[in-house]
Amino acid sequence: MSAVAETPVVATRRQGRVMVVEIANPPVNALSAAVRQGLLSALRAAEAARGVTALVLTGGAARFVAGADIREFGHPPVPPSLPEVLEAIAGSPLPVVAAIGGAALGGGLELALACDGRVANIGASLGLPEVNLGIIPGAGGTQRLPRLIGLARAIEMIAGGKPVPAKKAAGMGLVDRVVEGDPLPAAIALAETLTGKHRLSDLTPPATGDVEAAIAAACPRGKAPAAVLAAIKVIREGAALPFAEGLALERRTFIELRDSEEAAARRHLFLAERSAPRIDGLSAPAKAIGLVGVIGAGTMGTGITLALIAAGFPVILVERDAAGLDRGIERIRDQLARRVAASRLTAEAMAAQLALITGATELATLAPVDLVIEAAFEDMAVKRELFATLDRITRPDAILATNTSYLDVNEIADVTTRPEKVLGLHFFSPAHVMRLLEIVRAAQTGDEALATALALAKKIGKLAVVAGVCDGFIGNRIFSAYRRQCEFLLEEGATPEAVDGALEAFGFAMGPFAVADLAGLDISWSRRKRLAASRDPRERYSSVADTLCEAGRFGQKTGAGWYRYPGREPDPIVHRAIEDAAARAGITRRPLGPAEIQQRVLAAMVNEAALVLEDGIAARPSDIDIVLVHGYGFPAAKGGPLFWASRQERAALETALEAVAQSTGFGFRRGRLPTLPSET
Ligand code: 3HC
Repeated sequence: MSAVAETPVVATRRQGRVMVVEIANPPVNALSAAVRQGLLSALRAAEAARGVTALVLTGGAARFVAGADIREFGHPPVPPSLPEVLEAIAGSPLPVVAAIGGAALGGGLELALACDGRVANIGASLGLPEVNLGIIPGAGGTQRLPRLIGLARAIEMIAGGKPVPAKKAAGMGLVDRVVEGDPLPAAIALAETLTGKHRLSDLTPPATGDVEAAIAAACPRGKAPAAVLAAIKVIREGAALPFAEGLALERRTFIELRDSEEAAARRHLFLAERSAPRIDGLSAPAKAIGLVGVIGAGTMGTGITLALIAAGFPVILVERDAAGLDRGIERIRDQLARRVAASRLTAEAMAAQLALITGATELATLAPVDLVIEAAFEDMAVKRELFATLDRITRPDAILATNTSYLDVNEIADVTTRPEKVLGLHFFSPAHVMRLLEIVRAAQTGDEALATALALAKKIGKLAVVAGVCDGFIGNRIFSAYRRQCEFLLEEGATPEAVDGALEAFGFAMGPFAVADLAGLDISWSRRKRLAASRDPRERYSSVADTLCEAGRFGQKTGAGWYRYPGREPDPIVHRAIEDAAARAGITRRPLGPAEIQQRVLAAMVNEAALVLEDGIAARPSDIDIVLVHGYGFPAAKGGPLFWASRQERAALETALEAVAQSTGFGFRRGRLPTLPSET
């Protein structure tokens, strides 16, 4: 077998009558311009070569192709286009087989679909996840996939955007064979037996499955992002059209979506998520973590335990008394049982996960752990006492983490003799569901502790963002500024329903007052009481929330908060409390429309985000965007507050920032807006 390099990223070699074409474009074999050109050249060379009867495309033993090169979007297209390359493969007189060793995603699966046969490794995953990037497949996926696996399943895969494992793909008819190890030999064997082409364009989509049910599943409550709706439309309409017209319809829709603001926002988030765990200058290796201690069997502690046991970590769960511990373990059992009932976990896996937990009521049981995650009561005195004890009883090399959402991690670290091993691990509730994790790097946190926390986050499937110490770190600090502005707007003339309505129209799943009612108003009330002594009396302070709490209105759990429940009804009592507060503050209320509300609130958020950056609490603007999107319901379609700001007309943003400055008055600090790098 001789190796002849066609281009640096695509190489060909003969194996008997089969030409093996190998893509080598690490890390994921994205279909860059060089790869597309390389594939086309390899195909043409194979067609011209004497004695070649078939081709096999491979991305290596453990890879295939993860799709179009996302970094090329937003830049002028470089020929040949992916559809051109795939049409050349499908139209070639030579049969082509795809040897799928790993992820075949997006354009990668479309490449495999343009082939005449597909062999996959058992660990491969196949999918068309384009909707997650605000686009639809743009190289034949919406037309070829339904012809291979039927309309209903194609809608499920394309509109759902979730890849399927190789075995499931084989069950659907998406791959011809599944093998252990490198799929190349089996793919070559298949290629040797193929005598003609198996073009999907010659077929009509089989009418199998329940199309309406697949659409309903993709559009819960009749709603779905623009890309999902477009995908369904293109699949359905394309199925009734000649293949070439279906392809043209797909391409038009793809280009329109690719060039949209939403797709740019989603691409920004895709790249932001990947850069977040990369910390400049961090070279220390992560410490191996075996046994983990979790303190507190309440909502947070049990959620954190669930996240840890799902990844196979043994956990010692400590609660002050046996009754509390039993309640916590029962909650964990309940969550796992729900997953079993929904067929998302087997009964055996549930038993194995539960067996990883050792319940305890004594801190001394934490002596052998490698890491402690404290999720006890949110009170500095409690935490300092706990950490002083932990410092005494745990091994000197153990890492001590607090799950505090606001408190000063430096003050907590100070009571220990190992501040370099202390940091914050701020999980979001429910901790086993929410992907975001703020890793709080305190003044003396060492590189090893930070590297260990980042590695742990990856193992338990969390999206880690590193934050510095300040009140509320990245997320809660920005969210507080946003909430504060919302409360000022009430005094100035808005109602909770007007503010929530305006922000929900912007894309937040829930407005801030509805969120507060859901979370419980008592939590932030106790924080406000804690901070009351240090508040400068010259600062503007809206007391409406305090008035509601004093009346026992803690939100949904007490049947009333900013709204009346059930049914989230506007409440005249709340309106009166707002009017009274405005009168006390000498504010003349005036009508505020949804556009003004949006501008003001978003400007307040953007300003605080700029300050978080300026103060070094976040390392990059994109870190802030993913925290707000993944932890606080900022619409992904808008890319996060700083991405959104970078796309606004500067003058309008300045006007809104000026209005925030005016309304905030004493103590307002103006942040410097960062410039986001243009798409790379
Ligand atoms: N284009 C460019 N770069 C990509 C990429 C792509 N399609 N997919 C991944 N990368 C890059 C990442 O940005 C990252 O780069 P970095 O190291 O410089 O940060 C690197 O590859 C590794 O990616 P991950 O950190 O995500 O690695 P994992 O091993 O965790 O995951 C993966 C691998 C499952 C392939 C995951 O990267 C993924 O889901 N990629 C996106 C797949 C996708 O959405 N494909 C569709 C693209 S759009 C398309 O094909 C349009 C077509 O229809 C015309």
